[in-house]
Amino acid sequence: MAKLMKRKTKTLIFIFIISVILSLKFPSEIEDERAKREKLEKEEMKFSVFLQRESAMSTQGGVISSADELHGLEYDFYRQNCPQAESIVRSTMAKIYSQQNDISFGLLRLLFHDCFIKGCDASVFLDDSNGNKNHSVERQATPNKTLRGINEIDMIKEELENACPGVVSCADTLALATRDAVVLAGGPFYPIFTGRRDSTQSYFDEAMDEIPKPNDNITQTLFLFSRRGFDERETVNLLGAHNVGKISCDFIRDRLTNFSGTGQPDASVDPNFLNELRLACQDSSSTDHDGTVASMASRAMIFQGLSSSVPSGARFDNHYYQNLLKGRGLLFVDQQLMADENTARFVAVYASDDGTTFRRDFSRSMVKMSNLGVLTGTLGQVRNKCSFPIRQS
Ligand code: HEM
Repeated sequence: MAKLMKRKTKTLIFIFIISVILSLKFPSEIEDERAKREKLEKEEMKFSVFLQRESAMSTQGGVISSADELHGLEYDFYRQNCPQAESIVRSTMAKIYSQQNDISFGLLRLLFHDCFIKGCDASVFLDDSNGNKNHSVERQATPNKTLRGINEIDMIKEELENACPGVVSCADTLALATRDAVVLAGGPFYPIFTGRRDSTQSYFDEAMDEIPKPNDNITQTLFLFSRRGFDERETVNLLGAHNVGKISCDFIRDRLTNFSGTGQPDASVDPNFLNELRLACQDSSSTDHDGTVASMASRAMIFQGLSSSVPSGARFDNHYYQNLLKGRGLLFVDQQLMADENTARFVAVYASDDGTTFRRDFSRSMVKMSNLGVLTGTLGQVRNKCSFPIRQS
C-alpha cells in the first residue's frame, strides 16, 4: 500500500514538473503569437485606414480615383472563402525576402511583363499553351527569358493551395506578393484589390512585339505605354522602377562600343560613366555561342546603384532621375527620357525633391499597372498550379 502511495506521489510530482515546464514554455509562445497577431492587426488597421483615406481623397486624385479603375476587383475579395489569403501571402513573402532580399525587384519586373501583355492574368507563368506543346508561350519570349520570381510565386501559391485549394488565383498571388515585396524593400505601399482570375492562354507573339525593348527610343516607349492607358508622366514614373534591381551588361554592351552599328559609343552616355560601365562590364561577354542570353548566374550584372551617387546602391528614391539629368542612365531606353521635352520635364520634377513625389506617383501607377486588363467574375479560371492551365472539357 505504502509502495503504491509512493508511486502515485512520484507520478503526481512528475506531472507537476512537466506542467510547470510546459507552463514556462507556453507563455513565451503565447506572447510571441500575440505580438505577431498584434503586429498583423496593426498593419491591417494601417492598411484599411490608408484605404479609407485614399477613397476619401478620390476626388483630389488619390491612389484610386474612381470605382471604374478597379475593373470589378474588390477590397479583400477572399474574405469569405479564404480570409487568411492575404496574410499567407504576406508571411510567405517575408520569409522568402529574408533569404533573398533582391527578390522584390525580380517580382516588380515580373508583374510588369505579365500585366503589359493582355492584362494581369498570370499568363506569363504558363508552361504550355493548354496542352499544345508546339505553341510557344510568353515565358519563351526574349524579354521574358531573364525574368526572376516565378519559383517564388509558385511557393506562395502552394501555401495558399494548402490552406484554401482552388480559391486564390495566380494573378492575385502575383499582385499581392509584388506589393508586399515592394514594401519590404522600402518602396511605397499601395492598395491591391483582389478578385483577378487567371488566363487559359499564353501570348507569345504579343510578348515578343509589345514588351518594350532596352534600345527602344522615346517615341516607341511612349506609344507602347499609351496603348495601356499610361500618359507621359505615368510612363516616366513607372520607369523609375529602374531605381532598383540589376541589369545585365548584355543589355548595355552595344552602348559602350558600337551603338546602332555606328562603331562609336552612344553619345548620350556621360564620358566618365562610359568608362565606369566599360570597367564594370569588361571581359564579361555572357552571350552563349548560340546567341541566346546566358543563365542568370553566369551573366555580368550591373546594379542600379552603380549609376548612382548613392553608395548603398538601389533604393526606392529618385537617384534614377538625378542620374538621367547627368547622362548616367543605364539603358538607352532610360536615357531616352531626356530626349523628349515633356518626358525630360517630368524627369526634372521627380529629381527635384527627396523622392516624395516619385514615391507618391509610383503608388498610383502601380495600382493602375496591377489592375490592367484583369479577368474577373466568370472570365478565365483559378489555376491550382501557376504553370498549368486547368483543362477545360
Ligand atoms: C521601356 C520600358 C522598360 C524596358 C525596356 C525595361 C527593360 C529592362 C531590362 C532590359 C532589365 C534588365 C533585366 C536583366 O538584366 O535581367 C530591366 C530590369 C528591371 N526592370 Fe525594367 N524595363 C522597362 C520598364 C520597367 C517597368 C515599367 C518596371 C516596373 C514597374 C520595370 C522594372 C524593372 C526592375 C525592377 C528591374 C530589375 C530586375 C531584377 O533585379 O531582376 N521595368 N528592365
